[in-house]
Amino acid sequence: TSLVTYRKSKVFSSPIPLPGMKSKTSNSFSPEWTFNRTLSNLIRKNILRFLDAERDISILKSTFKPGDVIHYIFDRQSTTNISENLYHLLPTVSPMKNQHYKQCAIVGNSGILLNSSCGREIDSHDFVIRCNLAPVEEYAADVGLRTSLVTMNPSVVQRAFQDLNSEEWVQRFVHRLQSLSGSVLWIPAFMAKGGEERVEWAIRLILLHTVNVRTAFPSLRLLHAVRGYWLTNHVQIKRPTTGLLMYTMATRFCDQIHLYGFWPFAHDPDGKSVKYHYYDKLTYHYTSGASPHTMPLEFRTLSALHRQGALRLHTGPCQ
Ligand code: CDP
Repeated sequence: TSLVTYRKSKVFSSPIPLPGMKSKTSNSFSPEWTFNRTLSNLIRKNILRFLDAERDISILKSTFKPGDVIHYIFDRQSTTNISENLYHLLPTVSPMKNQHYKQCAIVGNSGILLNSSCGREIDSHDFVIRCNLAPVEEYAADVGLRTSLVTMNPSVVQRAFQDLNSEEWVQRFVHRLQSLSGSVLWIPAFMAKGGEERVEWAIRLILLHTVNVRTAFPSLRLLHAVRGYWLTNHVQIKRPTTGLLMYTMATRFCDQIHLYGFWPFAHDPDGKSVKYHYYDKLTYHYTSGASPHTMPLEFRTLSALHRQGALRLHTGPCQ
């Protein structure tokens, strides 16, 4: 496929059956999937024009000093500072430097994972990306246990760990961080104002308990670059979700990308209800109206890429 045909082929806008249209949807995720290396390489090359995940995955110690002022990406008029502690946890080189993997799994947080028995399959990938410190131990059979990289929006501290308002929650949080031993903890600390304290608490606990994680703080340009790439390809996303950010970055260091737990719909193709997250009580109201995310549009885009073999979406149960 030449770049020109790729551009013209409306890769991202091809009409695909919407989830809820029973048989067609289940058929579109049938086992006949074959990997399209040419398209996958082309996508990597095109994304590289907008961002280099090896570099943009984190700001580095060499480019900042404690006290430096940072403008939030979505709230440009508000600022924060690089604290001493945060500076301490900035990497000196990219945590993804020279890293390449054959098979990567990106695990989204949809309830579609419940009763999927996908845990073992997910863990069999060379690199496993998870989102927002989603719990694994209690759900291991469905989501697996291994984590190579996990994201943590500052709001997670509030939503999943009760703002660390008791010793018990602090312990739970520390336990979750300790269970990550050796993996990359990716904290988008400068996206939107409001999370400053939570980031600082998390960082302090990491330092205090000498938690063995490699922290990463996305570059200030990452989000615009990701959005720019998709907009250029006619995907009108308002603000990319964590899952789409991870896919876009993973193209840099993964050959084959497998997505699990991506299903932003309240029902499965058979009409059974699906939880918004596999592990909590958030509902779909969370994504409607006020939410800046356009998850269903992202899903349609990922489905189109699945059908062309550029990535593989797993939405049904595993063996
Ligand atoms: O940080 P964000 O709110 O985007 O993510 P999350 O709710 O922690 O879930 C992680 C990712 O899984 C999302 O960014 C979506 O890409 C995906 N997801 C999905 O496809 N369907 C759902 N019902 C929930 C999450």
